[in-house]
Formats: sequence, C-alpha cells, structure tokens
Amino acid sequence: MADNDFHYELSDRELAGRIWVRLRPYRRRIGWALTLLVFAVPFVNFHPLVWGFVADALVDQTLTSGVLVMWLSIMLGSYLIGIAAGAVQNYLLEKTGQAFVRDIRAELFSKFQEQSLAYHRDCRTGELVTRITSDVDAMEQSVLQGLTALVEEFVTFIVVAGMVLWISPMVGAVSIIPLAFAFIFIRKYNRRVKSLYAGVRKKLGNIGSFVQDRLAGILVTQSFGRRDHETEKFRENADHFYDSSVKASRLRNTYFPIVSVFGFINNVIMLGLGAWLIMNDSSLFSLGALLAYRGFWWRLQSPIRTIAQTSDILQRARAAATRIMELLDKPVSIKNESDARSLGSVNGAIDFNEVSFSYLQGKPILKQVSFSIKAGEFVAVAGGSGSGKSTLLNLIPRFYDVDSGSITIDGTQIKMVTLDSLRKKIGYVGQDHYLFDGTIWENVIYGDPAAAEEEIFSAAKKANAHDFILSLQNGYETQVGQNGVKLSGGQRQRLSLARAFLATPRILLLDEPTASVEPESEFLIHEAVLKRSRESGGTTVLVTHRIDLLRQAPRILFFDQGRLAADGAHHDLVEGCSAYAEAYLRWEVEEANQISVLR
Ligand SMILES: Nc1ncnc2c1ncn2[C@@H]1O[C@H](COP(=O)(O)OP(=O)(O)O)[C@@H](O)[C@H]1O
Ligand SMILES: [Mg+2]
Repeated sequence: MADNDFHYELSDRELAGRIWVRLRPYRRRIGWALTLLVFAVPFVNFHPLVWGFVADALVDQTLTSGVLVMWLSIMLGSYLIGIAAGAVQNYLLEKTGQAFVRDIRAELFSKFQEQSLAYHRDCRTGELVTRITSDVDAMEQSVLQGLTALVEEFVTFIVVAGMVLWISPMVGAVSIIPLAFAFIFIRKYNRRVKSLYAGVRKKLGNIGSFVQDRLAGILVTQSFGRRDHETEKFRENADHFYDSSVKASRLRNTYFPIVSVFGFINNVIMLGLGAWLIMNDSSLFSLGALLAYRGFWWRLQSPIRTIAQTSDILQRARAAATRIMELLDKPVSIKNESDARSLGSVNGAIDFNEVSFSYLQGKPILKQVSFSIKAGEFVAVAGGSGSGKSTLLNLIPRFYDVDSGSITIDGTQIKMVTLDSLRKKIGYVGQDHYLFDGTIWENVIYGDPAAAEEEIFSAAKKANAHDFILSLQNGYETQVGQNGVKLSGGQRQRLSLARAFLATPRILLLDEPTASVEPESEFLIHEAVLKRSRESGGTTVLVTHRIDLLRQAPRILFFDQGRLAADGAHHDLVEGCSAYAEAYLRWEVEEANQISVLR
C-alpha cells in the first residue's frame, strides 16, 4: 500500500548534522581553508594602522624617508600575503562546494531511482527537477559561500574591533555600542524572513512542475486551442512567486537600511569623539588614530551588512536544504528485506495465494485473488476497465507490495528475494512503454547492455521491429526523441518488445500492449508475442480484450471488480461465466465498430 504520511521537520542542529556528514570527506580541505582564512584577515586589514603610524610620525616630525619606505613595504607586503592566503582559501572552499554539489546531486538521483512507483506517481516530476538543480545550488551557496562569508566577516570583526580597542579603548568601546543594536535587528529580521523564504521556494517549485506538465501535454493544449488559457494559468503561478518574492524584498529593504544606519552611527561617534579628544589636547587620542579609524570604520560596518545579507542567503538556503534532506530521508516503501537473497534461475511458475491489495486504505482493488500459472504457460488476463488487471501485473515485479496474501515464483516468495534479481527475470511491457531520448540502438540495448550485435538484431526480428528499423533513414542510429515521439505508437511498442526480448526474461508480462497502436502493428505485436511464447518456453501473461486473442488463448483469467471471476479457456468461460459472456459481447461489438469505422 502506498504510504503518504511523512511529516518532516528539522531543527538547525539536525540540518547542520546532515550537511556535515556529507562534508566530512572534505574536512581536511575545509580545515586548511579556515586556517588560511583566520591567518589572512589580520594581514589584509593591517594597512589603516600604517596610515596612523605614518600620520603620527608626521605630526611629531620624526618621519624619515627610510622609515616611510619601511612602513610602505610592510603595508604592501602584509596585504600581498593576506590576499594570496585568501585566494588559496577561496579556491579550496569553492572546490569543496562543487564536490558537495556533485555528491548531493548523485545521492538525490540515486534516491529517485530507488523510490517506488507509488512514490513517483504521487510526486510531481518538475518538483524533483527543481530540487536537484536549483535547490542544490541554493544549498551550496549557503553551506560554503554563506558560511565562509560569515566566518570571514566574524573574524574580520574580531580582529578590527581588537585593533580599534587597542588604539583607544575609550573611543573604540563607545563606537562599537551602536553595532550591538544592529545585531539585534538582524536577529529580528532572521526570524521573520524564515517562513517567507520557505514560501518563495515552494512557489518556484510550483512553476517548475507546471511547466514540465504543460510541456509534456503541449499536443493536447494546441489541439484544443487552449494556448491562451495555459499562458494565463502560467501567469498566475508566476504571480504567486512574484508576490512572495516582493514580500521578502520589502522586508529586506526595511531592515537593511536600519542596520546600515546603526553602522554609520559608529562612524559618526569615531569622528566626533576622536576629534573632540584631540581638540581638548587629550593624550588619549591622536590624529594618526583618527586616520586609522577612518580606515577601520568601514571594516567594522561591513561585517554587519554581510551578516545581515548572508543570513538572508542562509534562510533561503535553509529552506532548500530542508527540502533536499526531506527527499533523502524519505523512507523507501519497496525495498529488499534484510535477509533477502538473490533469485536464481527460474522456470517461471507464478502463484497468487489469497492476494489482496489497495492503493488507498479501505478501497480494496484486488480481493483474495488466488491462481497458479505453470512454467511456460500462456495466460490471457481480461476484465472490464478498472477491474485491477494492471494492478495485478504490477504486483509480480513488486512495483507495489501486496497488503495480504503472497505471490511466489517457482515456489519462492517474491518478498524474500532481492528486487534486482526478481525484476531481471521478468520482462514488462506496458500500454505505452517509455523510450529514452537517444537512438533505437541505445533503447534496445538497454535490456542487456552486454548484448552482441546479432543478439540485438535477433531480438528486434522477434519483435517484428527489425524491418521497420532498417527502413528508417538512419536505421538503428535513428534518434527516437523524448519518449520516442519521432516514432508511431506501434513502432514504439515493437521497440519496447525488442528491448524486453533482448533481456530474455523467463516471465513476460504484457499490459494491453496494443491499446494505443495502429492495426498493422497490432497484428505484428501479437504475432511476435505468441511466437515467443511458443519458442522460448517462457511464461507469458498478457492483459488484453482483443477477441481473436481471447478465443485462441489456452487459458483466460477473467477479473470482475478485483475478484478472479473465472479461470479457463474461452468456450468454457462463455458458457460458465455470465459476466465474461457479457463482457465478451461488448468487446466484440467494440471491435466491430472500430473496424467499420476504419473501413
Ligand atoms: N496509483 C493509483 N492510486 C490509486 N488508485 C489507483 C492507482 N492506479 C489504479 N488505481 C485504481 O485501481 C483500480 C484498478 O486499476 P487498474 O489495475 O489500472 O485497472 P485495469 O488495468 O483493469 O483497467 C481502478 O479503480 C483505478 O482507479
Ligand atoms: Mg490497465
């Protein structure tokens, strides 16, 4: 059963923990970078002191050109050292950031691959794309750029504040006071912006999903002449994003100027108090000190601005990171049991024992279904629309797990074997099976990447696909487009068959493989499936309501509202099961109508 109740919330500490686990492989690099950073800051910020020393020496008339050159060399030298260390540190961190992005993307993608079909049906593809692209970027910004900026500014603040206090404890202390108010404001801002950014990200996700969905359905939109309508709806989505972004912007532009003003008051105090002390001939302050303060003021103010802005980035990124971690932490509903073993070679007998299944609790789709299919048997599955035929097929490769009862292959419970080993024994072809963007060759060989050329040709021949492939201009090298859009429905299905045949599964499951194909292809597909069933000796389970196939099938499992209503050959069912007889009549009429329309 699909489980949808998963509530996710992370404290800052938990989030940091999850990020740190993923940064651990790079901890040495990060350690070096931080060391260099702490080392570089005093060097880069040394120069205002030199201005002060030189100015005081000038006032005292003690400056000689030798001393001046010495100071200038020290000033330039320390700056160069600081800049060089900073550059190395920056490089190390950027490299770490990129590695982090690469790792987390790979981890996310692998998780998407692992998640069950139920999961992918319930979630929107566009949203997953947004997570793996822009959310990961936003997270990288926070984790490395944001945190480095914070650390750098914090160290700068400490160093510069130290110098300012060293020059004059009194002026320094008084001028730093307004900065404390600035910090208080930043904290307030942080709290308010947090929820806002969660909203902004969500709206962006909505835009992504909408575009993805509507582009996939562009044919429908155009054929119904609904372009304007869709554009209008897109506009609504874009407006929602706009509204929440503007709200965030308003908040930012209310708080940041206030923070700047507090920072600037620090500047006013330095000049005012400093000049006043000099005017009063105090020995507590000098012109050189005033000049040095002039250089330092900005370096005290800038950390505050940066911290304000960075916390902004951090909030944005926190929202992104939480959503990424949510995906990574989301439990996988269909997975290997802890003591699962690999399923060895199989003959292909399938048993359903009292199997019940529901997608949603309380709405059973399959009810107490039991049957045995012998190895090598050809079985047709029939039933009205919604009677649970596709669901039944999906249970065999464990795309979904049963609620109760069990399914066995050659007597082995499928729950007890590894998913990969189980699925490799089973070929599955759905109504319109997906083809990847690439060549025909690439799509067919997907079934068995190690296959030789003859094997591929042979699989394509068995699937009645070889001839049409060769008739295409580029043959096997023809690009099929995303989901095979450049081919007809029947051609796509025959490629899907070839792909499944190449993997030589012992069990072949086909879910109305001709539901969306043209009549010539329908015949070719049925012929291919029947021939394979005869020649390979494998088990075939085919969901269909084509009357000619039902009449020929040695055995039919007929489903009615999730129950196995009848089991036998066509003529037995027509006589023994009134529901089947009625359904058969209906299919007969449907087909006759189709044919008369075609004529
Ligand atoms: N992913 C799903 N979530 C919820 N209900 C589903 C899902 N897939 C199918 N169903 C429901 O299960 C029932 C059986 O579906 P299905 O097995 O596809 O029928 P069939 O293939 O016989 O037409 C239908 O009522 C359908 O609405
Ligand atoms: Mg179906």
